[in-house]
Amino acid sequence: MNAKSRGRFITFEGIDGAGKSTQIALLVDALRARGRGVLRTREPGGTELGEKLRELLLGMDMHPDTEAMLMFAARREHLAVVIEPALATGAWVVSDRFSDATHAYQVGGRGLAAARCDTLEAWTHPGFAPDLTFLFDISPESAARRLAAAGTAPDRFECEQRDFFARVRAAYLDRARREPARFRVLDATRKPEAIAAEITASIDEKTWP
Ligand code: TYD
Repeated sequence: MNAKSRGRFITFEGIDGAGKSTQIALLVDALRARGRGVLRTREPGGTELGEKLRELLLGMDMHPDTEAMLMFAARREHLAVVIEPALATGAWVVSDRFSDATHAYQVGGRGLAAARCDTLEAWTHPGFAPDLTFLFDISPESAARRLAAAGTAPDRFECEQRDFFARVRAAYLDRARREPARFRVLDATRKPEAIAAEITASIDEKTWP
């Protein structure tokens, strides 16, 4: 019998308030309707340890280096306990954020040296990257209006100023320009149905390695 083929790793990225969550739920439903086994997860988090680290990361002030290292510590556990085992069974893993978020938020937003982030990434997952990444692009002003309308209590990142999110957005777009085969940049200001249609079309049209 042939070994079961490996699953696919799909990530969603964008600044806070870009509207990822709704689209993640729609994609998971669409993949399941196509008969795929799907695991939905998130970062920071996704494991018992990772969710504890998430509470600290979203709630406590800390040095930017500490923040980056904890993001990758949570990610290491996430890969070992959840992502790798699921992909090995042939499941599709859909994650709300992954390492692009550390490059965008900690390097772009906080000013962490890019080389440090590259080193942590090379340690945590050498040679491993998402198969496909959806980047939800929106201006910090529109995203802030959405967050305000949602009315939920802001976490430590959501309390940041517009210029922080402008830097995070620019860092995301820069990564997307460098890896056009992996990224799909979506205009996140469009109607949810239009965005969902573009996402499922990207999945159906992609030539998987
Ligand atoms: P998010 O998925 O947006 O959570 P929610 O929708 O519940 O607010 O992410 C949590 C926050 O963590 C978000 O502000 C981005 C930040 N973050 C980083 O700064 N670096 C990272 O590497 C990751 C994964 C997230």
